[in-house]
Amino acid sequence: MRVVLLGTAAGGGFPQWNCACALCAAARDGKLPSRTQECVALTGNGRDWWLLNASPDIRAQLTATAALWPGPGPRDTPVRGVLLTDAEADHVSGLTVLRGAPDLKVYAAPPVGTVLAPARGALDRYAPWQWADSLADGGFVLAGGLVVTAHPVGAKVPAYVPPELAEADGRWVTAYRVEDLATGGVLLYAPCVGAWSDVLDELCAEADCVLLDGTFFSADEMGTAAPTGPGQAAMGHLPVSGPHGSLAALARHPRARRIYTHLNNTNPLVDPASRARAQVAAEGVEVLPDGIEFAL
Ligand code: MLT
Ligand code: MN
Ligand code: ZN
Repeated sequence: MRVVLLGTAAGGGFPQWNCACALCAAARDGKLPSRTQECVALTGNGRDWWLLNASPDIRAQLTATAALWPGPGPRDTPVRGVLLTDAEADHVSGLTVLRGAPDLKVYAAPPVGTVLAPARGALDRYAPWQWADSLADGGFVLAGGLVVTAHPVGAKVPAYVPPELAEADGRWVTAYRVEDLATGGVLLYAPCVGAWSDVLDELCAEADCVLLDGTFFSADEMGTAAPTGPGQAAMGHLPVSGPHGSLAALARHPRARRIYTHLNNTNPLVDPASRARAQVAAEGVEVLPDGIEFAL
């Protein structure tokens, strides 16, 4: 399977349009690499491509990636569908950019599908899409020979969801395990993780590559954490550092290639010269720029 990291920033991107912090300023000055909002493309056969989430930057991301260009017919596209991990605005709003694409298949967990119902109705009027339950028993197979299972990993509800929709079903956030039947390669994609779990340890143990939530490096990064408070974890993103952070969890899985993605503009990992970056590298965990492709 070929995997392309189309974008690696959290919601807002890097630099974020309304942020004047030192990191965002350095990115505007060209001193740090800019990052578009988090999104991945993958394929098992080089012809049928699937998006993991649809960022609002998807137009620029598709344009920057030759394998995803349209053709040979004037409206042909190799993009077959989208696998949503959650209903966050930075992961679903790219669907509006894709409107009108014929026969797109979109996988989402039930609460995500429910909250997107009005958008689904609108998008289906451009071209009818197939909306599927990502958590249906037994998983699903994607054209190109990829076998997928979705795994609930969190209950973070997007800020725009009204309370009456927030409580019915807690499976708001999922991770995807994608296996290439031809190569046996296994990708674990978990860009939104609020708390570590045994399920994640089991999934990491059998993955060749883990793409993990690296939104925040530390629990007090946005200046909101009281010493005893939940800090950034309350925002649905387990921080990288600390005794209970994701880096300590990833250290248990040295066999897998491990990559942080969905980096917030406040995260020092966006700076290759930061101590945070050295700490992550010392564990063998990677932070990569947009546009990187690798095979599993
Ligand atoms: C998140 O990942 O926590 C959300 O994307 C936040 C947001 O709405 O930007
Ligand atoms: Mn996000
Ligand atoms: Zn900033």
